[in-house]
Amino acid sequence: MNIDHVATVREARRAQEPEPVAAAVLAELGGADGITIHLRVDRRHIKDRDLKLLRQVVKTKLNLEMSLAEGMVKVALEAKPHQVTLVPEEPNEVTTQGGLDVKGNLDTVTRVVERLKNAGITVSIFIDPDPVQVRAAKEAGADAIEIHTGLYAEAPKDKVDEEYQKILNAAQLAQNLGLVVHAGHGLNYKNVAPIAAIPGVEELNIGHSIVARAVLVGMERAVYEMKRLLK
Ligand code: PXP
Repeated sequence: MNIDHVATVREARRAQEPEPVAAAVLAELGGADGITIHLRVDRRHIKDRDLKLLRQVVKTKLNLEMSLAEGMVKVALEAKPHQVTLVPEEPNEVTTQGGLDVKGNLDTVTRVVERLKNAGITVSIFIDPDPVQVRAAKEAGADAIEIHTGLYAEAPKDKVDEEYQKILNAAQLAQNLGLVVHAGHGLNYKNVAPIAAIPGVEELNIGHSIVARAVLVGMERAVYEMKRLLK
């Protein structure tokens, strides 16, 4: 469960709530197998204090998404989350735009992977479902890849099968190479089933759709509780 957008709501008012740590605890109570946060260089939603607290509170597995920036590597080496997922990051993007170009940055990625793994952190790399990038992730020494499902999620109807096939092929290749396979981005209540059904996919990272639904399914009760106070 990616809780970034709980922090987005908090930061919309630069307020104290909603508390991402509380969201993480409730997500775990609801059955989440892990908590994911993306600590962006601009700290637009998740903050360093969230990482620090979540590292202590999360009982399942804390997955820190981050860029290759040296400052981020230092943060990860200090916080020691269970897992880091390396992602590309652009300052003005609304969300992560695609997979990391591991092939084009092989030396840098390899060095970062090595430093994180030496600290006992499992390393996953977020990549497009492209065999070149899957092989490069293996070469870089990653433990796992997270296959970018955004193009599948956003594909027009006549392109969904094509995008799905790319994910299937990438998952198969990764497993043949001995990589653990994760997937995520843009997954929601309508499109997640075929991705969850892919053999060997061990982890799905889902954020926006679950936070969006939580706002709606929690609305009736939240209003009811306020009305009760008013009476
Ligand atoms: N995986 C990665 C690498 C991401 O960057 C994100 C978005 O932060 C997600 C998964 C979750 O995507 P969504 O919020 O669309 O479920």
